[in-house]
Amino acid sequence: MTRLGIVLSGRGSNFEAIAEQIGQVKLGAEIAVVVSNRADAPGLDAARRLGLSAVALPSRGVERPEYDRSLIAVLRAHNVEWVILAGYMRILTADFIRAFPERILNIHPSLLPAFPGLDAQHQAFAYGVKVTGCTVHFVDEHLDHGPIVMQATVPVEDGDTVDALSARILREEHRIYSEALRLLLAGGWRIEGRKVVRAKTLTAGG
Ligand code: GAR
Repeated sequence: MTRLGIVLSGRGSNFEAIAEQIGQVKLGAEIAVVVSNRADAPGLDAARRLGLSAVALPSRGVERPEYDRSLIAVLRAHNVEWVILAGYMRILTADFIRAFPERILNIHPSLLPAFPGLDAQHQAFAYGVKVTGCTVHFVDEHLDHGPIVMQATVPVEDGDTVDALSARILREEHRIYSEALRLLLAGGWRIEGRKVVRAKTLTAGG
């Protein structure tokens, strides 16, 4: 069983979707710990309800390098192999990235590289795009930037609102995060530059 460490800052619906998939499908993974930089994150309550280890590690007033060292220590104490960012609203230090090489994933609510940063759904809506979506990607030292594992598109409808659009994007987030995880945990892939290359695709001649 691959041990996952979930790191979040808020609601935690992506975490709950992954927890549900782990319960239903054989992902070959278990959630070792859920950590939040906000003690009042609803995602922590959800973790406790599910009987998982839930750790509040408040970030307010703590310098980033020191904070990330504490975060690494919590994850290591739970023998975490893959770090799953699920609505974690902070940039990680290079030291953190190096602590879990090629083992940190993030989900972002836009088709990267469009609309990185905060309120991506609002950014896309305000820009007037006709199609947006979500992206699962490996995490590097830059914001919403690492190699892309999976994306899903979501059309912007006539008469849409940001809230309605965000809800449709979120449904796709919940679907592809577990799907991407399943694919990666199955192995047979490698990272080449910006690309996540699947060995099966190569041998299939496609
Ligand atoms: C999700 O929409 C996620 O894509 C986004 O925060 C939300 C968290 O929701 N993450 C980012 O914008 C990261 N740059 P959740 O707490 O219900 O999973």
